[in-house]
Amino acid sequence: MKKIAVFTSGGDSPGMNACIRAVVRTAIYHKIEVYGIRRGYEGMIEGDIQLMDSRSVANIIQRGGTILKTARSKEFMTPEGRKKAAKNLKKLGIEGLVCIGGNGSFTGALKLYEEFGIRCIGAPGTIDNDLYGTDYTIGFDTAVNTALDAIDRIRDTADSHNRTFFVEVMGRDAGFIALQVALSGGAEAVFVPEVVNRKDWIDQLFSKKRRKKSFSIVIVAEGEEEGGAMVLAQKVKEKYPDIDPRVTILGHIQRGGTPSSSDRVLATRMGSAAVESLLAGETNKAVGIINEKICLTPFEEAIFKRKDIPEDLLRLIKILNV
Ligand code: F6P
Repeated sequence: MKKIAVFTSGGDSPGMNACIRAVVRTAIYHKIEVYGIRRGYEGMIEGDIQLMDSRSVANIIQRGGTILKTARSKEFMTPEGRKKAAKNLKKLGIEGLVCIGGNGSFTGALKLYEEFGIRCIGAPGTIDNDLYGTDYTIGFDTAVNTALDAIDRIRDTADSHNRTFFVEVMGRDAGFIALQVALSGGAEAVFVPEVVNRKDWIDQLFSKKRRKKSFSIVIVAEGEEEGGAMVLAQKVKEKYPDIDPRVTILGHIQRGGTPSSSDRVLATRMGSAAVESLLAGETNKAVGIINEKICLTPFEEAIFKRKDIPEDLLRLIKILNV
């Protein structure tokens, strides 16, 4: 393999730039030409592809977002779109790809291999940490710390007013951010998509005899079953009108910002391992780090297997709220 390309796809996450830097410099170290594809599969279809060198990734390790930009491409989901993309790659002699992204991005890469034989290794980049085959994904640690910083501030005002706050964090399908933030932020309770059919939660948390604290913080993952923090707060207010809860939705601030040291190291290790795996002849696998060791998981598993939420952390939240 003499030429490879790197791209970011799907939602951005802090640490993607550190990963791009590692891909480019590892490729150059191994005397391989490396191209950058802008705006993910959109740029692949449009031929927005440029040769990169060591300097093109200078001074980006500390930057959030992605210098290659990102997109979710509808056209790539069609056979015609993929045909255009493959043609552009072949024209430049690109034989292998490093895809930094999540489930949807890996699904696209798998199709490209099945239809055109273009090899790909994935690096899991998403703040949600919901990819099977790695303990942590690129961006999760930073997103959690950003949310935690906000929650610590909310705590001050909650305490001053003896108020209940419902704080909504990202996580359309998974509660990893919510759980981590709830535990480290000393929350009263956490609502995650993985736990369904919660009965009597309002009374369990807010009945007069249960109210032990002067204020409470409840963390809600956006994808939880009842519809998010606004809905939960409204239900509490209807049942207990003496409680006047406030809602804060943290939203996209969790996706931006300077990556933490852990995310920079994780992204660097994954980016470098992705290139070396391609050179070793691997394809259709996602790089991961499990128990501090680099490993590879077939795309099919990374895409379809569900990563379980740590039950012991859920239990700890209950224990710590005696
Ligand atoms: O990257 C995943 C995620 O952070 C989800 O938790 C969230 O629902 C989604 O991105 C929102 O992304 P966008 O606004 O880019 O569609």
